[in-house]
Amino acid sequence: MHVILCDSAAEVAVAAADLVTRRVRRGPAVLGLATGGTPQPAYRELIRRHREEGLSFAGATAFTLDEYVGLASEHTQSYRATILRDFVSHVDLPVERLRTPRGDAPDPAAEAQRYEESITAAGGVDLQILGLGTNGHIGFNEPGSSLSSRTTVRALTRQTRADNSRFFNHGEEVPRLCLTQGLGTISAAREIVLLAVGSGKARAVRDMVEGPVSARCPASVLQFHPHTTVLLDREAAAELE
Ligand code: F6R
Repeated sequence: MHVILCDSAAEVAVAAADLVTRRVRRGPAVLGLATGGTPQPAYRELIRRHREEGLSFAGATAFTLDEYVGLASEHTQSYRATILRDFVSHVDLPVERLRTPRGDAPDPAAEAQRYEESITAAGGVDLQILGLGTNGHIGFNEPGSSLSSRTTVRALTRQTRADNSRFFNHGEEVPRLCLTQGLGTISAAREIVLLAVGSGKARAVRDMVEGPVSARCPASVLQFHPHTTVLLDREAAAELE
């Protein structure tokens, strides 16, 4: 795990965009995209580079990390709609090569398996972008998740539902279940870039980087990953020794 301390959230975004740019310029890339607030400035920077510097995603394929069970892809808060709005619809990544789990699939467990198989069929993820939950989750692998899990259906914790209620009109609207790539799926990505900004992430960052590898902090599994870069602003790094 290579930890890089940045002066600001803006610097975290530029550093993340640099890593994505480097990988995309090397040739056709399978990207893993996180939703949530943290990567949004990095996506904006990539969109700017696409528009002003000709950075092309035409050869890329993208898989999102997760999706809410019960939300159709057209729902404004589905992660498919979110990643289209935040990133994919602003660049030249062909929309048919944006893969997301179907939140409204009639059999979510079968959909989880189909999604896992589609990642394998694409040759696996070359570069996975991750955010970090305040409780140490990555994807929606909440504390207690198996470190080797594959894409599956999971319940969201009360804390994650509260954290994400800002995206919904009422807290009660936040779905209770999600489809998420497992920790084993995420760990199979060849390169991982995790972004964390703000004091709310400081404890999870400390547990991820300095704590024991444990399902109590799912992100700690990244200590085993051979090519993970962690990009932090000062606030998120505040509890590191
Ligand atoms: C999003 C995801 C989550 C978020 C995490 C942090 O696809 O899988 O793990 O990355 O909840 O969310 P933000 O960035 O909103 O603080």
